[in-house]
Amino acid sequence: MSNKVVINADVEKGKISKHIYGHFAEHLGRCIYEGIWVGEDSPIPNTKGIRNDVLEALKQINIPVLRWPGGCFADEYHWKDGIGPRENRKRMVNTHWGGVVENNHFGTHEFMLLCELLDCEPYICGNVGSGTVQEMSEWVEYMTFDGESPMANWRQENGRQEPWNVKYFGVGNENWGCGGNMRPEYYADLYRRYQTYVRNYGDNKIYKIAGGANVDDYNWTEVLMREAGRYMDGLSLHFYTRPGDFWLGKGAATGFPEYEWFKTVEQAYFMDELITKHSTIMDKYDPEKRVGMIVDEWGTWFDVEPGTNPGFLYQQNTIRDAVVAAIHFHIFHKHCDRVHMANIAQTVNVLQAMVLTEGEKMILTPTYHVFDMYKVHQDATLLAVDANVNRHKYEDLEVDQISITASKDKDGKVHIGLCNIDNKESASFAIQLRGIKEQIASLSGTILTADTMDAHNTFEQPDAVKPTEFTGAKIENGELQVSLPPMSVVSLTIE
Ligand code: AHR
Repeated sequence: MSNKVVINADVEKGKISKHIYGHFAEHLGRCIYEGIWVGEDSPIPNTKGIRNDVLEALKQINIPVLRWPGGCFADEYHWKDGIGPRENRKRMVNTHWGGVVENNHFGTHEFMLLCELLDCEPYICGNVGSGTVQEMSEWVEYMTFDGESPMANWRQENGRQEPWNVKYFGVGNENWGCGGNMRPEYYADLYRRYQTYVRNYGDNKIYKIAGGANVDDYNWTEVLMREAGRYMDGLSLHFYTRPGDFWLGKGAATGFPEYEWFKTVEQAYFMDELITKHSTIMDKYDPEKRVGMIVDEWGTWFDVEPGTNPGFLYQQNTIRDAVVAAIHFHIFHKHCDRVHMANIAQTVNVLQAMVLTEGEKMILTPTYHVFDMYKVHQDATLLAVDANVNRHKYEDLEVDQISITASKDKDGKVHIGLCNIDNKESASFAIQLRGIKEQIASLSGTILTADTMDAHNTFEQPDAVKPTEFTGAKIENGELQVSLPPMSVVSLTIE
């Protein structure tokens, strides 16, 4: 059978929130320190302590929203330790991540500066696990109160006159695990209590995000929606893609066997089932889909690179990661009526990163390139796609050979994302273009592909995997003919 695909350019399915292209940066390993923050006295060129090369790279992919300070770190972070003169800030132990000393040099002011420089919205995750209601309430007051108040005055003493706009605020993280090992009933009650004091000051209207389920814990979603749904704007979901067992061996980021290629792809597709099932429960309590699903941690999680600190979660990033990213975007687009935001874990040097650094050197990963190629879908309108695609079988695994998405941007351009997950065979097929105007002025495309399953960029070969012009598409008799090489992600634009 041949893949059969129809793009219905005149059937609009809703807006793809740009926040689906969001990010997550935690005080973990070398993400914040070294990866983003080098300090004002560093020989690495920086803007008020934030390294310029990383800043420039991240600006290019239009990060819409950035989640911080964790992750598990958030539930042991005490924000007051991270403000005021840096030399006086408390040094703490980052017990979750490698037991290293956290000097708190990157705190609220530094994070807000980073967001300003990136022109993205902050998404702050507050501490429920080991923090107090008062502490959370005062953080919101510190950041957003406009006028005279103890916290606003303190902010001004620390050099910031105007309040910041903070829309997205998470009330805890993974409270079923590192955020307090709570039962959903207990967390639902705590959520109701803590969120009461997450106030809206002046024009600042906070979008409150409750800590959601771990993977397929559907009971968590049921209880949270039932007991606290009316007090939240968003409910999170975490799912990481890995070919192996979390504790026994997740699988290597490079040099992996063919089976792990397909297992990883199968796991990436599993995100669709997860969102569908959690969404169905949310529909029961919120049929209008007011509460957004916030997939604020997703991405690949492999074994750390040999010789690196196991608590730092540093892994290489290959064409396999690029395929995983594309599959996720296609799934998030498909569910854009419920998925309001997604945040890849994590932006720099941790898990499925955009950029990797080594001293003053920096490289872009294959995942970065997918974010760059796909930024055209941010805030575009999802188009209906009918796809009947070939299944690829490998041992006990079976997955769709191709994955596809399409959107129309505000200028009427149609953007198509395509991915061939097959590691050996190319995929050639026709896409019927329904509802597209007769005269197509131009067709252009970009491809990211590689010859080996673990092709990746290194500090010696930074451009081993990079996008090039795609010449495998043409329009004939109103149909789009494409030929996708094995292991490829393609972005096409029709004007
Ligand atoms: O992203 C790494 C960790 O994964 C986060 O800190 C935590 O929330 C999740 O378990």
